[in-house]
Amino acid sequence: MLEIENLTVEIGGRTVLRNLSLGVLDGYTSVLFGPNGSGKSSLLMTIMGFGDYRVKEGRIMFKGEDITKMPLHDRAKLGIGILMQRPPNLVGVKLRDLVRVAGKDKVDPESIAGPLQMTPFLERDVNVGFSGGEIKRSELLQLSAQDPCLYLLDEPESGVDLESIDRVGKAVKELLNGKRGCAGKRSMDGKSALIITHTGQILDYVEADRAYVMCNGTITCSGNPRELLQEIRERGYEECVRCKILQIS
Ligand SMILES: Nc1ncnc2c1ncn2[C@@H]1O[C@H](COP(=O)(O)OP(=O)(O)O)[C@@H](O)[C@H]1O
Ligand SMILES: [Mg+2]
Repeated sequence: MLEIENLTVEIGGRTVLRNLSLGVLDGYTSVLFGPNGSGKSSLLMTIMGFGDYRVKEGRIMFKGEDITKMPLHDRAKLGIGILMQRPPNLVGVKLRDLVRVAGKDKVDPESIAGPLQMTPFLERDVNVGFSGGEIKRSELLQLSAQDPCLYLLDEPESGVDLESIDRVGKAVKELLNGKRGCAGKRSMDGKSALIITHTGQILDYVEADRAYVMCNGTITCSGNPRELLQEIRERGYEECVRCKILQIS
C-alpha cells in the first residue's frame, strides 16, 4: 500500500526527516513511536503532501504509483486520508458541509455522525470551540466520509480524556474494519493504517502488525508493537539508538 524509500525532507530550512524508509502492507496497520520532536507528524504531513514539507531525496510510493510530487488533493482522491494532531479551526465552514464534500455528496452526514455522537456538531464551524475528544471525532467523521484506503492517524488518543479514548479507539477500529471499501475503488479489503501513538493506548483497539520507532528524523527500530512498547516503557527511547546499532551489525 505504502512504500517510503530513503526519504529526506526539509521544512523551514531544517532537515526533519533523514534517509527514512518504511512500508505498510495492504490491509495492515503499522504504528509509529518516537519522542517529541523526532519528526513523526512531519512524516505523516509529507505522505499526505502538505506543501511546506520539501522532499529533498527519496520517494513515496502508494499502490505502486510514485506520488512524491503529487498535489495533496490528488493524493486524497487516490485514497490517502489524515487525522491531524492539531487540525485548524475553520471559521465559517460547517462540519456538515465539510463532511458532504469529503464524501463527494454520496454520504449522508447524519448516518455517519450518529455512531460518533457528532450529530449536534454538524451545524457548528469545524473544530471551533470543540474539546480535545470532539476534535478527534470530528476528524474521524471526515475520514469516515472520505473512506480512504490508507489512514494516517497522528496521535488519535492525545489530548483526549479516558472516556473519549474509548470512543475514539472504537471508532478507529470500526473505520479500519469498515466494509464500505476504499474511495474510488470498490475493493472491500486492503485498508491500511499508519498510526502515531505516544502512549500505545490505541493498541487496545486496533490490531497492529508492525511498529517503528523514530528518533531524530529517521527510523531507528522496528518490531512487534507490544514488545517494542514494553521496551520503551521500561528503558525509554535512548535504547533506540542502540537498537539501530544492533540492526546494522
Ligand atoms: N514549520 C516548521 N518550521 C521549522 N521547523 C519545523 C516546522 N514544523 C515542524 N518543525 C520541526 O520539525 C521537528 C519535528 O517536528 P514534528 O514532526 O512535529 O515531531 P513529532 O511529531 O515527532 O513531535 C521539530 O523540531 C519541529 O520544531
Ligand atoms: Mg507530532
